[in-house]
Amino acid sequence: MTALHDRAHEPGTLTTATILFTDVVSSTALRIRLGEERANVVFRRLYELLRSVVTASGSSFTKSLGDGLMAVFDSATAGLDAIIAVQQAVADENERAQEKISIRAALAAGDVCWGHDDVSGLPTVEAARLVAVAEGGQVLCTDLVRRLAQGRSRHEFKDLGRLPGKGLREPMHTYELHWQSADHHLGAGLAPWLDERGLPFVGREEQLRTLDAELAAAEFGGNLVLLQGEPGVGKTRLASEVARRALKRQFTVLAGRCTDPARKAYEPIAGAVERLARTSPALLLRAGIDQQCGQLVRLAPSLAAPPLSLEVPPATEPVSERYHLLAAARTLIERLATVRPVLLIVDDLQWATLESLQMLNALMWDADALPLLVLAMSRPVPVESAMPELHKLTADARVVPVPAFGPDEVSHALTEARAAGDAAVLHRITGGNAFLISEVIRELTAGKDLDALAVPDSVTRMVLARLSQLHPDARDLVNLLAVGERMSSAELRQGLGLDEARFVAAVEEAMGAGLVTMLDNGSCHFSRPAGTARPGR
Ligand SMILES: Nc1ncnc2c1ncn2[C@@H]1O[C@H](COP(=O)(O)OP(=O)(O)OP(=O)(O)O)[C@@H](O)[C@H]1O
Ligand SMILES: [Mg+2]
Repeated sequence: MTALHDRAHEPGTLTTATILFTDVVSSTALRIRLGEERANVVFRRLYELLRSVVTASGSSFTKSLGDGLMAVFDSATAGLDAIIAVQQAVADENERAQEKISIRAALAAGDVCWGHDDVSGLPTVEAARLVAVAEGGQVLCTDLVRRLAQGRSRHEFKDLGRLPGKGLREPMHTYELHWQSADHHLGAGLAPWLDERGLPFVGREEQLRTLDAELAAAEFGGNLVLLQGEPGVGKTRLASEVARRALKRQFTVLAGRCTDPARKAYEPIAGAVERLARTSPALLLRAGIDQQCGQLVRLAPSLAAPPLSLEVPPATEPVSERYHLLAAARTLIERLATVRPVLLIVDDLQWATLESLQMLNALMWDADALPLLVLAMSRPVPVESAMPELHKLTADARVVPVPAFGPDEVSHALTEARAAGDAAVLHRITGGNAFLISEVIRELTAGKDLDALAVPDSVTRMVLARLSQLHPDARDLVNLLAVGERMSSAELRQGLGLDEARFVAAVEEAMGAGLVTMLDNGSCHFSRPAGTARPGR
């Protein structure tokens, strides 16, 4: 039982509240079937699950009712959201558990009086009466609950008319909540950058077959898969498709990405955990996340907010702090993996910092028995420039190359987008690069003619974006070449005022980004992205 005896809930205080009652259908039959001891374990686990879910959904007070629970909310919307989360959590559990459990629930609203460890009033009587007539899986509520939540019209109800309630003076106007249609956990599942929906998804059948098999295998042990391909080829989009499939398979999906330069410490893990703490605190509670993961508050401040309320351990010396941080990240993944298998997506691994790579290595260490799939995406990294930590991480990884689209996929993309254009021409001018294809198709659907398309603005934007990721020396070099088109190495070096080593590094980087080409005679020229060469080459 939890009670927040803040001033608003002091004994004797009256407040307007929404009351939720839940009950387990046929609990007596279940007890007989399981035997008292096993039944107690199942019911205790269920109660903990419900309590953590409703607390995470904003309940200020919960109380055990034997096989069920009562929870009090300050708003009808919070109560409705909580029971949807409960029913979905129970449905999740049922997917995996041998003993299926069915919950019925009811909500009522009105003034209640707070006691020392209880609340009382008409809404508690109404909710108790309604839950008694509800069927398995059903959520009933009074008309008042529906009307209080009306402004937030995400909820759907069915009017059941007036139901008589034992001990009530009048029959209650009752509604049934359609919780099955609420896409709560799918909606919360994907980070916005992983949820981009441009053109309908095309191609990648072979890669998806491989990745589906990796998801299936991950339920029995940890693995690392690396999606590798040129800039704009479609790595992130493919990963988002895998993420959707993982959600359907009841995976917990965590996703973070690296940027250059990194915006925070341990960037991909920090981003993934922060989002999880914000969107799925109930899941973290269910996984038993506790103070052992306290170090992670440094990376994901939402872990410190209720209901998780983790505290940052006092600072010690840096080496042991780092060790404890890595251990905390590993603990978090291990515990999450006890609830459901975990898919951890790490985008743009080519920009991972040394510390991020060390953390990923710590997560993957001896992960054979952990139901975990780490799916990382990376542009090709020149072997000479890669960090040893990156090699260590990817040495045992399964590499899935993501190639440019062939003419068939380009044609498929045109059909799917209902755009008119010659697939062969589009394939030629884009080199099969998904980013360029989708940009050109956007122009085509806006009414432009393929023949009239020179270099779309967005291609210029891509060059600029790529440019912004270069070292300033390489950026200066590209800018100079863009004006001069073609220059000898000596002229360029002089123009830039760089010493030999810095000049070579700048040329290599600009060539690696596909923005500069060096001819056999040693002169450099600026590569236009559209034309015969494909960007990134
Ligand atoms: N299979 C696909 N079907 C439809 N559109 C796609 C597909 N793959 C990629 N795209 C589109 O092409 C664009 C570029 O794809 P994406 O961002 O996945 O590339 P990327 O390889 O991750 O690039 P970068 O290396 O820059 O991160 C996106 O707008 C994406 O929606
Ligand atoms: Mg990407």
